[in-house]
Amino acid sequence: MEKARVSVLRLGHRRIRDQRLSTHIGLTAALFNLKMVYYSGDHDQNLEDSIHSVTKKWGSTTRILYTETPFKMTKEFQGTTVHLTMYGAPHHEVIPQVQNEDPEAILLIVGGAKVPAQVYKMVDYNCAVGYFPHSEVSALALTLYELLGNDPIYTKDPKASMKLRGGEKGWGRKQQHKQQEEEK
Ligand SMILES: C[S@@+](CC[C@H](N)C(=O)[O-])C[C@H]1O[C@@H](n2cnc3c(N)ncnc32)[C@H](O)[C@@H]1O
Repeated sequence: MEKARVSVLRLGHRRIRDQRLSTHIGLTAALFNLKMVYYSGDHDQNLEDSIHSVTKKWGSTTRILYTETPFKMTKEFQGTTVHLTMYGAPHHEVIPQVQNEDPEAILLIVGGAKVPAQVYKMVDYNCAVGYFPHSEVSALALTLYELLGNDPIYTKDPKASMKLRGGEKGWGRKQQHKQQEEEK
């Protein structure tokens, strides 16, 4: 799946209750360097600012945009639409199907409090990540990992002002011991 540009649509954001959860959806999308995070519900400048400030500092081209018309956007989306819900087909079946189609663009939709029935009918796929209710962040992260793999996670903008490379400072005892043994 070389060419697909993946975006996320977060439905029904509530400014006070969902601040943290929606921020984490945005950061998960930014970790995979997705094209866009769209959100509906309450317009929330703080949410947009916090995603923008992290992507700017840490290097990600993901952008966040509010939409007043999420269902129109879903219906008219030029590409494949995948709604994450525990009522869908298992992700290990849906994701290979999507990869096989190799679409130009993919819109992953995650819910909020209550996703209207029309969404289930208008999307190309309803996709479950286990038949257990968990969270939009975990469903999104697992789906993205299965869809895109490791590469985008470690590919960051070289111009980012904040960078972590991983190394001795972050190592645990066994890693340090291994390193010391190797240096002997
Ligand atoms: C609080 S949960 C609500 C769970 C919901 N009844 C459902 O349809 O999955 C909010 C969002 O998390 C995501 N989610 C939660 N559990 C999921 C699962 N097992 N598989 C896929 N998505 C899930 C869905 O996008 C859902 O709209």
